[in-house]
Amino acid sequence: MELYKLDPVVVSVVWCLMVRSAGSLHQSCRMGYQFKRMTADCKDLKLNQIPMNLNHGIEILMASENRIRELKNETLEAYPNLELLYLSNNFINYVEPAAFRAVPKLEVLDLGLNGIRTLPLELPLPLRKLYLNGNRDLEKITLTSAYNLQYLSLAECHLSQMPDIGELPHLTELNLTDNPLTKITARQIAPLCRLNKLHTPDILYTQHKDSCECHEFQHWVKKFKIATTAPIECSNFSEVKLELCLSANRTELYEIRNTCLDRKPPLNLTSPEILSTAGCALLVVILVILCCLWRRSRRKQNTVRDNQKKQKVTTVV
Ligand SMILES: *[C@@H]1O[C@H](CO)[C@@H](O)[C@H](O)[C@H]1NC(C)=O
Ligand SMILES: *[C@@H]1O[C@H](CO)[C@@H](O)[C@H](O)[C@H]1NC(C)=O
Ligand SMILES: *[C@@H]1O[C@H](CO)[C@@H](O)[C@H](O)[C@H]1NC(C)=O
Ligand SMILES: *[C@@H]1O[C@H](CO)[C@@H](O)[C@H](O)[C@H]1NC(C)=O
Repeated sequence: MELYKLDPVVVSVVWCLMVRSAGSLHQSCRMGYQFKRMTADCKDLKLNQIPMNLNHGIEILMASENRIRELKNETLEAYPNLELLYLSNNFINYVEPAAFRAVPKLEVLDLGLNGIRTLPLELPLPLRKLYLNGNRDLEKITLTSAYNLQYLSLAECHLSQMPDIGELPHLTELNLTDNPLTKITARQIAPLCRLNKLHTPDILYTQHKDSCECHEFQHWVKKFKIATTAPIECSNFSEVKLELCLSANRTELYEIRNTCLDRKPPLNLTSPEILSTAGCALLVVILVILCCLWRRSRRKQNTVRDNQKKQKVTTVV
């Protein structure tokens, strides 16, 4: 009958509508709290960009597993309180120079599994964790402005050379696992002067055992107690040869390390917070001085008056 013929069509149309409406229902991010911070969970929603209409106060934004392609200067402008930003597993291959200027409180940034080639020179000062694992087209990343960075992952990035990431005085842990890296030199880790954990690829120094660089690196990680996940094995050198190797660049290496140890935090003098605290401090100092002057002049007046009184008394007597 006709009805029997129609049935599958009707059913599939209804089914289609149901699935689509369910899909669009799930298009919106879930709001909530994590670690006592206001959180928007926008994970896996097939988003092409970061939504602009979320609560402006959010401190955590989870937008992993979407289809975001770039971060523009204005992309994050609506969320100045962001502290944690998760963007792993997207298609991000371009980040504009001022993209992170809008999020000056950012502490954790996950850009893992994207197509990042380079990052802006300007990164948020509080940033302490940065995930760049699985970005296989990294060309140049200079992280020097991330003064407070403690953890960096460059795992699975197809690196055949350690990139020059710059001087990072607070970096304690660097993840370089699963890269085709056969060599890391002491020169490359000297500007990471507080490093104490280095997750190394297994093939590190399996091919360059005979080099001075192997010994120099081995000596450096031992001396500064940097734990490596794979042991560094170099071939046996005579004592004389070893000393020649270790002394070649010693002065330069120590200078690089010391410059890093001495580096002071950048003072952001234009930041309104610093300006207002400085203003307050100045006001307090001025008030204290005024108060002291006033008390002193009053004391003087009092003693003058007392003296006058005494004189009067004596003349009366
Ligand atoms: C983004 O900001 C930077 C720095 O202010 C500026 O040089 C650049 O032109 C901006 N990009 C766009 C597309 O406006
Ligand atoms: C290092 O990176 C690998 C690959 O992303 C990951 O599996 C591992 O947990 C990381 N290790 C640490 C200590 O971060
Ligand atoms: C000393 O530094 C130079 C240039 O940076 C490098 O080519 C050389 O291999 C280093 N020497 C040792 C012993 O590693
Ligand atoms: C290097 O020397 C040590 C002891 O001096 C020895 O145990 C080791 O087998 C030697 N290694 C090689 C590769 O010759």
